[in-house]
Amino acid sequence: MKIYKAKDYNDMSRKAANIISAQIIMKPDCVLGLATGSTPIGAYRQLVEWYNKGDLDFSEVTTVNLDEYRGLPRENDQSYYYFMNENLFEKVNIDKNKTFLPDGMEEDSETACQKYNEIIHSIGGVDLQLLGLGHNGHIGFNEPGIAFETETHCVTLSERTIKANMRFFLSEEHVPRQAYTMGIKTIMSAHKILVVVSGEDKADIVRTAFLGPVTPQVPASILQLHNDVILVADEAALSQSPELC
Ligand code: GLP
Repeated sequence: MKIYKAKDYNDMSRKAANIISAQIIMKPDCVLGLATGSTPIGAYRQLVEWYNKGDLDFSEVTTVNLDEYRGLPRENDQSYYYFMNENLFEKVNIDKNKTFLPDGMEEDSETACQKYNEIIHSIGGVDLQLLGLGHNGHIGFNEPGIAFETETHCVTLSERTIKANMRFFLSEEHVPRQAYTMGIKTIMSAHKILVVVSGEDKADIVRTAFLGPVTPQVPASILQLHNDVILVADEAALSQSPELC
């Protein structure tokens, strides 16, 4: 695992955006696995800035997102479809037909997951997968206890995740209870994985995930077994893991 220690959130965002833009420059028709949550927003902002300067071209890029809430319409401003449009897709020259997210409005979870697996297989897998890190070690929406062998599946969100994501909704009752997410097996199949983490509130889980035992109880710990992972974290997030620095 390569580790880049960033000074703060902005530095982390710029470093992460540099890695993503290097991928696009090296392989213009690459497949990017994208993430939501608050952590990657700064990296997306930086990519948009470089695109506006004429330094980046998304016209051949394909994207697959990690996850989507089940039952939330695309127009809902908390859907991940909305998030991606708002933070990236509407602001760069990406072909919308080449951007994919699980269909949160497909009621039949088996159909939703099967369709998404087919999409991921048909585009030939992911070149660079961007990941945030949940406080309980979740990646995508793969909550503690999840089997490492899964592809796209429907999950019931843990209480901790519902509470963490409550800040984006009117109240706790409005947070969807389920989501469709790429599985760990899919995530681990990406050629390269870029994990972004910021803030002192993540210091504990950074230590547990990257220095603790590999266990389904901490889904992100599986990343220790991937041969091309880059962790870009700020000083606060790395504050309990001096061994990683
Ligand atoms: C969410 C998303 C994850 C994200 C994580 C951390 O629930 N499903 O993909 O990485 O939580 O979010 P944040 O970056 O806001 O801390």
